[in-house]
Amino acid sequence: QLILDTLESSSTIKDTRTLVIPGQSDPAASQDAQIAILGALNSLFSREMITYDTHETLSHVLTPEGAQLVLEGSHEARVWAALPVKGEGTPVTPLELKSRVGDETAKVGQGRAFKSGWIAKEGSGLVKSALTITDTTQLDLREVDSTGTLQSGEKVLAELRKRKLIVQRKGQWFSVRKGANFSTSTAKPETDLTVDMLTSGAWKTSTFKKYNFEAEGIPTNGGALHPLLKVREEIRNIFLEMGFEEMPTSAFVESGFWCFDALFVPQQHPARDLQDTFYLSDPSTSLEPPSDYYKRVSEVHQNGGYGSLGYRAPWSHEESRKLLLRTHTTASSAAVLYKLAGKCRGKKVDDEALDSTTGGSLAATDDGFRPAKMFSIDRVFRNETMDATHLAEFHQVEGVVADRNLTLADLIGFMRVFFKKMGIENLRFKPAFNPYTEPSLEIFAFHPYLNKWVEIGNSGMFRPEMLEPMGLPKDVRVLGWGVSLERPTMIRYGINNIRTLVGHKTSIENVESSPAVRF
Ligand code: PHE
Repeated sequence: QLILDTLESSSTIKDTRTLVIPGQSDPAASQDAQIAILGALNSLFSREMITYDTHETLSHVLTPEGAQLVLEGSHEARVWAALPVKGEGTPVTPLELKSRVGDETAKVGQGRAFKSGWIAKEGSGLVKSALTITDTTQLDLREVDSTGTLQSGEKVLAELRKRKLIVQRKGQWFSVRKGANFSTSTAKPETDLTVDMLTSGAWKTSTFKKYNFEAEGIPTNGGALHPLLKVREEIRNIFLEMGFEEMPTSAFVESGFWCFDALFVPQQHPARDLQDTFYLSDPSTSLEPPSDYYKRVSEVHQNGGYGSLGYRAPWSHEESRKLLLRTHTTASSAAVLYKLAGKCRGKKVDDEALDSTTGGSLAATDDGFRPAKMFSIDRVFRNETMDATHLAEFHQVEGVVADRNLTLADLIGFMRVFFKKMGIENLRFKPAFNPYTEPSLEIFAFHPYLNKWVEIGNSGMFRPEMLEPMGLPKDVRVLGWGVSLERPTMIRYGINNIRTLVGHKTSIENVESSPAVRF
């Protein structure tokens, strides 16, 4: 503030040693004061409030011995003081002098005191020859101590340096000018633009700290996989070990057609309600589904077919084309099964990616069908009320197997092998209902910590009403099962609130330190 106020009144500071710090009588000439001033100058310079030039000086400071002499007097003065005035007492022998003032002082002081004519010999002893003395060494040292130099000049300074009573010290002082952002306010500049500043309008008058593009930034740690991704990788490996191939699941946004209609979920089903499914408002409708297939699907819903009565309920094209966030990965499975049936429909499979998805290793038979074991692990969305175990987005793990004449025993067999590899051997199956599978089974596992049976998944044999409109041959059966990724992850990591795993309360430290998973 002193620097800014001085610049305000006299526009430059020629020599910072002339500044008088408020409350002090002398100017801030000492090196300590200049160092403090330099700190302030640098801080003001970084805000471009001032600029300054540095000037070097040489000055002198006392050594510890020099400081001692300021307090106690010079060696020669102490020798003089220890002796009697000539004719007034017994002369002091050199030995006695040593014991009075110490070896060092006696040695150095005698010579200098003789030279100055302060003391004289008297027989074999010593006496004062001057009645009063002026201890110039002590006075000179005092002057150096307060001013850093001596009026009497370099010759005396050199002498004191030789006696190791003072040393030279480099010093600095500064001249200061106003900078581009000069102001007398020392308020710290803002480093962040905050919501408060925007709403109050304070940003208009605030001064902001300049970006330092040369700053090195905080070193970052290496990346870390989230626990969900670690478990995902393990489950993925289980599927790959069992010869399954991964289905493409990048379509988070699906149409009502693929998410529900193709799966023979009636258009009036409660799962399609706004309370359960997130619909898109912009864009709100999908492209047209494949038209022949669409016709067969709407037909089986309304009037039945393939041995089914159908739902015999009104059909809405709009409902079918609504865009939504997929509520299950079975929407993606349906699209992959439809492509798998492509060759059976007498058409070439149009999507090249499909061939790498469903493999090319198994030779197609006459009707164009080839078996497939496929899986996916990806995100789904439901309009859920969030609580400790439910989120509006979570992950499903899904296995789908298509082959001729598969049975419910195949489904149960696949699931037993799959869950055993996840470390779950005690399974039970309970009849359940899905619009797209018949029969359907809920999967229960015995939870050793909770000491009870818990539901871990859902499964079933896909219905002919779903498979036959796709063009799959009548003897082809498709089985499928689905598990959430969150449930096994929470069990593996001993987490009982899903919000510690996902969402804004997740601690990055915990993610970084979470151990790898081995089933
Ligand atoms: N889609 C079912 C669910 O969301 C899981 C499932 C997949 C069931 C495949 C049967 C067959 O719970």
